[in-house]
Amino acid sequence: MNTNISGKVIVITGASSGIGLATAKKLSELGAIVSLGARRIDRLETLVEEIKTNGGQALARSTDVTNRENLENLVRDTVKEFGKVDVIVNNAGVMPLSLIESLKFQEWNQMIDVNIRGVLHGIAAVLPYFKAQKSGQVINISSVAGHIVAPTSAVYSATKYAVRAISEGFRQEVKPYNIRTTIISPGLTESELSHTISIEEVKTSIDEMRKMSIPAVSIANAIAYAISQPEDVDTSEIIIRPTSQPM
Ligand SMILES: NC(=O)c1ccc[n+]([C@@H]2O[C@H](COP(=O)([O-])OP(=O)(O)OC[C@H]3O[C@@H](n4cnc5c(N)ncnc54)[C@H](OP(=O)(O)O)[C@@H]3O)[C@@H](O)[C@H]2O)c1
Repeated sequence: MNTNISGKVIVITGASSGIGLATAKKLSELGAIVSLGARRIDRLETLVEEIKTNGGQALARSTDVTNRENLENLVRDTVKEFGKVDVIVNNAGVMPLSLIESLKFQEWNQMIDVNIRGVLHGIAAVLPYFKAQKSGQVINISSVAGHIVAPTSAVYSATKYAVRAISEGFRQEVKPYNIRTTIISPGLTESELSHTISIEEVKTSIDEMRKMSIPAVSIANAIAYAISQPEDVDTSEIIIRPTSQPM
């Protein structure tokens, strides 16, 4: 149990695999009540059962973060069930990497919709509650790719730079409401993220690089650290990557 995590109600998007799933488990172990959103509801329901079996509290709702109402419903149901919302982890993301010349218009739109609009929808859904209670924490998952660009990552990186820009602007704007804002920028981390890469040779070379990945719980630990700090401490950004990752 951690004093500033235990009892908090924490919404996590993209909790059906990878970093989101590891974060749900970790925060629940530390005494948080977790509210889980993703499209694969069967996976979320299995996770909720596991958390409840271990003595925790959780709920799951089928949530597509590109749909603003889905996120509003997730947060509304969370407050109805648990009485409040303290933190949102805007984690859902996709990474269909490709060269710009491949002209993957649909994948560009998907990245913009999930990685940028999804984060904005998450912020919008919790903001009325955070303003009313004059407290809350928004944790947005960016990436090392939100700091550097490489061939095939232009659009993905653009979305992750955008997450950092939105987070920093939001941080400055919400001072009157006592809201904390944290950017978590992971490097290579074990997850299903490369599954959305549709170009076989890009996927093969990324999967080779991803062999150096650190476990998803390493990112969950950083998220837990940011939440666990005293309320007057705002952890603005953490970059975590494998010791062996050069970029
Ligand atoms: N793993 C890494 O190396 C790494 C590095 C830097 C940053 N990140 C970031 O970390 C975050 C988590 O990714 P991950 O690595 O854990 O990958 P992952 O295992 O593929 O998880 C992605 C999650 O996002 C959800 N998701 C995708 N589209 C969604 C949508 N439209 N609505 C709701 N949920 C959606 C997926 O759930 P459903 O498919 O069930 O909806 C899944 O739970 C992402 O923002 C990613 O960009 C990861």
